[in-house]
Amino acid sequence: SKGNHRHFMSKEIYEQPDTISHTLSNYVNFAERKVQLPQELPFDFAKLSRLTISSCGGSYYAAMIAKYWFEKYARLPVEVDIASEFRYREPPMEKDGLALFVSQSGETADTLAALRYCVSQDQHIASIVNVAESTIARESDVVFPTLCGPEICVASTKATTAQQTVLATLAIAAGKQRGILSDAQEAEMVDALAKLPGAMSKALASEPKIASLDKSLSKAKDVFYLGRGALYPVALEGALKFKEITYIHAEGYAAGELKHGPIALIDEKVPVVVVAPSDALLEKTLSNMHEVAARGGNIILITDEAGAKQAGPDINEIILMPEVHELVQPIVATVPVQLLAYHTAVFMGTDVDQPRNLAKSVTVE
Ligand code: F6R
Repeated sequence: SKGNHRHFMSKEIYEQPDTISHTLSNYVNFAERKVQLPQELPFDFAKLSRLTISSCGGSYYAAMIAKYWFEKYARLPVEVDIASEFRYREPPMEKDGLALFVSQSGETADTLAALRYCVSQDQHIASIVNVAESTIARESDVVFPTLCGPEICVASTKATTAQQTVLATLAIAAGKQRGILSDAQEAEMVDALAKLPGAMSKALASEPKIASLDKSLSKAKDVFYLGRGALYPVALEGALKFKEITYIHAEGYAAGELKHGPIALIDEKVPVVVVAPSDALLEKTLSNMHEVAARGGNIILITDEAGAKQAGPDINEIILMPEVHELVQPIVATVPVQLLAYHTAVFMGTDVDQPRNLAKSVTVE
């Protein structure tokens, strides 16, 4: 049931502090400040020269975030691709590599086909799924469940952040096994994860501000989402969710790439959502944002207190997030982009939980 929510989407967005807390309790030993995976690993991260991740849609964007994490915290090169491209590329793979598949349903046809290709290439097969008895789970050597409960709304929300959470713990585990992260660094990252459910609640508190933008967003013909680093996939996720349920064209871009073409589309009618919490890259992203503002773009900045202080006067709206460890910034920043899509869709009266032309489980290729 939807409880006291109007839509499953809203219910599932609001469940996230609890679902993440539950997921973490299965992947982290908070008392010892260590990651503790629910499964023995049938491979050694220290022996890998590469990790290959394939998935589709929102699950692909979760994988893209993980690429930044594995490369930064475990110095493990990651290849990530959309499953429907990966499978037909017939990429060469070194024997005994690790192939990871991310899927809420565990039934996505292209992801399953990519998995079977990797079996033929003698890869270790790992998957992150929400449906434990799914085909992808059954055909994997090791399964990491996201444990967020059934997701009803077609647009994925709590499953996406649960995938991100599991991927973060795997990246830490890899960093430890590869001797990149010290015990102290692991402890610091585990503390950041411990604070994540509370940070998700704080992120949800931005809802009234976000709801107030529904009318102006509903009039847009195009909406841009910009991010850099691990926030770039969050921009892509935001644009996907927005177009999926509002039927308004939205596009996610790496902040630094806008000036190579798409900035030609910016005028005062185009809202530009900039996902930029305070981190090492903030200054660069803000300078991209000012380029957009100078062309009349209507800036909606998602940042934290420290970021807001640096941002300058040419911003139309600021959506404030709590200040969190860099590791969990993408997970926290996923909440406001979910809410932006949700409120605009509700304002427009679309079928939020069952958007047109879409199905929850995509079993056609
Ligand atoms: C977007 C969305 C889809 C799915 C994609 C993959 O909100 O839900 O893009 O992420 O169809 O589905 P799974 O994760 O079941 O493989």
